[in-house]
Amino acid sequence: MALNPCSSSVHPFSLPTEKAYKIYQICPSSLLQPSNLPGFPCSVLPRFPNGRRLVAFSMKEEQTQPPVLEAGACSPSSKTVLVVGGSGGVGQLVVASLLARNIKSRLLLRDPLKAIPLFGVQDKNKLEVWKADTRNPSDLDPAIFEGVTHVICCTGTTAFPSKRWDGDNTPERVDWEGIRNLILALPSTLERFVLVSSVGVTKFNELPWSIMNLFGVLKFKKMGEDFVRNSGLPFTIIRAGRLTDGPYTSYDLNTLLQATAGERRAVVIGQGDKLVGEVSRLVVAEACIQALDIDFTQGQIYEINSIEGEGPGSDPEKWKELFKAAAVN
Ligand SMILES: NC(=O)c1ccc[n+]([C@@H]2O[C@H](COP(=O)([O-])OP(=O)(O)OC[C@H]3O[C@@H](n4cnc5c(N)ncnc54)[C@H](OP(=O)(O)O)[C@@H]3O)[C@@H](O)[C@H]2O)c1
Repeated sequence: MALNPCSSSVHPFSLPTEKAYKIYQICPSSLLQPSNLPGFPCSVLPRFPNGRRLVAFSMKEEQTQPPVLEAGACSPSSKTVLVVGGSGGVGQLVVASLLARNIKSRLLLRDPLKAIPLFGVQDKNKLEVWKADTRNPSDLDPAIFEGVTHVICCTGTTAFPSKRWDGDNTPERVDWEGIRNLILALPSTLERFVLVSSVGVTKFNELPWSIMNLFGVLKFKKMGEDFVRNSGLPFTIIRAGRLTDGPYTSYDLNTLLQATAGERRAVVIGQGDKLVGEVSRLVVAEACIQALDIDFTQGQIYEINSIEGEGPGSDPEKWKELFKAAAVN
């Protein structure tokens, strides 16, 4: 649907809470430090017939500068990748890395304004942000998924009661119902759905996993996984070990890209839920992105750890070898 900007300007933080809206970002990231936001102009466009509102941040075209990207930008890809949970620890790194690769990205966030301090300002053709809560099927408007070719889902909440459960955002609601709702909303044309899950989901009744599962997180993650597996969509599930380094919340895009996995750059990938250990969030993010392009990872479930040593970085051939070797680990 073509939309024309209207003249009204509003403060970005005084936007009415709509079920879904999209932020077009076309400003330089240097202007997007939190202290600059109060003066940040944005135009509110006419409402969709269903009452949803599209929001466009507008700045002069000549101020637009792509961020300096450590990973080195490459030629535009034909993919449009939707990242669900892009404000989280792994999700932030996925988004930053997609942008660095010049891959058109779309974010589905409960609070779209979180994208601004995290990822700076991006061209509207590079990054769109939509507001939705995966627990609410009615938030998952088909317009969000139009043209999306791949999805990386990194949503989650804490295993034990915490502030992050506020408003009933529990493992049952996020890791089971949220995943089910998302899968049901996705177009059948999707080329790949990558889900970040957890090691131990098949052993939630056994010690020590039963302790982690006291409030059901592993059980509900397994239910989410099973729904993905039975959906008929081409999928890859990446079960992470205990996550280390980050989240890098409140950093801007360039800082995110400079995040390092420290000494733990070597990657171990297994299958059959036998792997136990830790994994750098950077490694998980990279595994999700690499899996999108490796045909034989379709329909597969992998566990992932990272250990001290040299890793595959972003070399596709090295990742192919690691995924290939998974069955023996
Ligand atoms: N922590 C570990 O050691 C560990 C180990 C294995 C696997 N995992 C799993 O790995 C994944 C990534 O972990 P992480 O630490 O990067 O996650 P995280 O920092 O907790 O981020 C979770 C993301 O999910 C989003 N989210 C939560 N509830 C949502 C909802 N109802 N609708 C839409 N989005 C929602 C959050 O958005 P908001 O910004 O709106 O909250 C955030 O973007 C998670 O599934 C986690 O359970 C974690």
